[in-house]
Order: sequence, then structure tokens, then C-alpha cells
Amino acid sequence: MGGPLIFCVFAAVFKNFSRYVLLAVVSCLKSLTEFSREGVLMGAIYHGIPKSLATFIRQKFNVSSFVETGTYFANTALWASGLFDEVRTIELSDSLYKTVVEKYGNVPNIKFFNGSSQIVLNDLLREGLPISLFWLDAHYSRGITAGDELPCPLIDEIKLILDAGYDNFILIDDAREMLASPPEKFRKLSDLPTYNDVIEVLDSRGRRYSIVWRDVLISAPYDSKEAIYDFLLT
Ligand SMILES: C[S@@+](CC[C@H](N)C(=O)[O-])C[C@H]1O[C@@H](n2cnc3c(N)ncnc32)[C@H](O)[C@@H]1O
Repeated sequence: MGGPLIFCVFAAVFKNFSRYVLLAVVSCLKSLTEFSREGVLMGAIYHGIPKSLATFIRQKFNVSSFVETGTYFANTALWASGLFDEVRTIELSDSLYKTVVEKYGNVPNIKFFNGSSQIVLNDLLREGLPISLFWLDAHYSRGITAGDELPCPLIDEIKLILDAGYDNFILIDDAREMLASPPEKFRKLSDLPTYNDVIEVLDSRGRRYSIVWRDVLISAPYDSKEAIYDFLLT
């Protein structure tokens, strides 16, 4: 009597145990797939543009133009060139600019610009751009990147974009740096705008829908709120 009972208890425990192991493995695999789709995961931080979100904005709101501040090695610009009709990307560092132009200068729908984002954006917006998705990522990032001596251009970039048109979509990278303790590379308070400064300027030409998702501050025209919210829930 005792033998079968022990066997039954053991089998039930073992059966549930293996089910939990299976569930854990499936959940890990799901997370890994998600991470590789969206970029590199470091700790709990997503690095780079959330591709699914950029794709959603491109398709849902028919946004054909992509503008990036801070080209670096042009990984994002290259990716965006497969999705958007026109890609413009701006880099302050002369050597990074030269490197990417040598490598990718022949990609027909990417235009590379060398200079500070405030100046180049101003020129581009004056010339006129279609409704665009702006990926604001120009800042000093140690190593070979430029901008060490300049204050963060973010507030000026936002003002220029909104002066040119309320209907543009804006994604700002590294939102955590405004929400949590500032990183070491920003030595003075004036090196990095506060989250409040950014929201204030985003709403200064009419209220916008702004929300942080995966280390990115999304700022969209207010009437796109429900569609974006539904996307973030999926
Ligand atoms: C984080 S990296 C950009 C990464 C790139 N956007 C991507 O998604 O792969 C930041 C870049 O901004 C550049 N940068 C810094 N200040 C800038 C400015 N005022 N205008 C344009 N580029 C700037 C740096 O040289 C660096 O290459």
C-alpha cells in the first residue's frame, strides 16, 4: 500500500516539476526572441531604437521619412533604409561621418550629414521635410564619439522639429538618464535636460502624447494616443 502511494506522490511532484521546468524554458526562449528582435539587452535596458515601434509608426501613420541625430556607425540608419523611403542622419564627429560615408554612401535612400544636429536640422527643416519619424540620439557617449564639450542638443532639436510641424513623431533614446540617477558622463546639471524640461518643451506647441517605453521617450501627436497605447499593450 505504502509503495504505490509514495510512487503516486513522487510522480505527481515530478510531473509538476517537469511542467514548471518546461514553462521556465519556454518563457526564457520567448524573452530571448523578443530581445533579439528589439536590440541588445544589457541588464534591464534596451539599447537602440525599438524596431517594432518604429515599424508600427511607419505603417499605421504612413510616415515615409526617418531622421536621426547621432549616426555613430549607421546601424540604425541602415536598418531604417529598408523601411522608410527617405533616411537622413546627422553626425558631429568628422571621422565617424567619413567612415560611414565610405561604407554606406552608396545606399540610395540614405543622406549623411556632417555637423551639429541643431545646425543641420535647422537647415533640413527650413528646406522642408515630409512628416517624419525623428530618432533623437545625438549625445556624447565616450570612446570615439563627439560632443564632449557641447551641451546636450535635445531641447533645441525638439524646438526646431515642433516649430516645423506638430504632426511629426519623435523618439528620444536613453530616457532612463532623465528619469533615474544621471550617468557619470554628464558631469554638470546643465549637461542633460531634466524630464520636466523635455515634457514642457514637447507640449509647448500643443499638447502631445508622451510616454516612456523601453528606455525611449515617445512623443506623438495627441490624436495618435489610442493607437500607440494599443500597440504598447500588445
Ligand atoms: C549613441 S550614438 C548614436 C547611435 C545611433 N543613433 C544608433 O542608433 O546606432 C551618439 C552619436 O551622437 C554623436 N553626437 C554627439 N553630439 C552630437 C551633436 N550635437 N550633433 C550630432 N551628433 C552628435 C556622437 O558622435 C555619437 O556618434
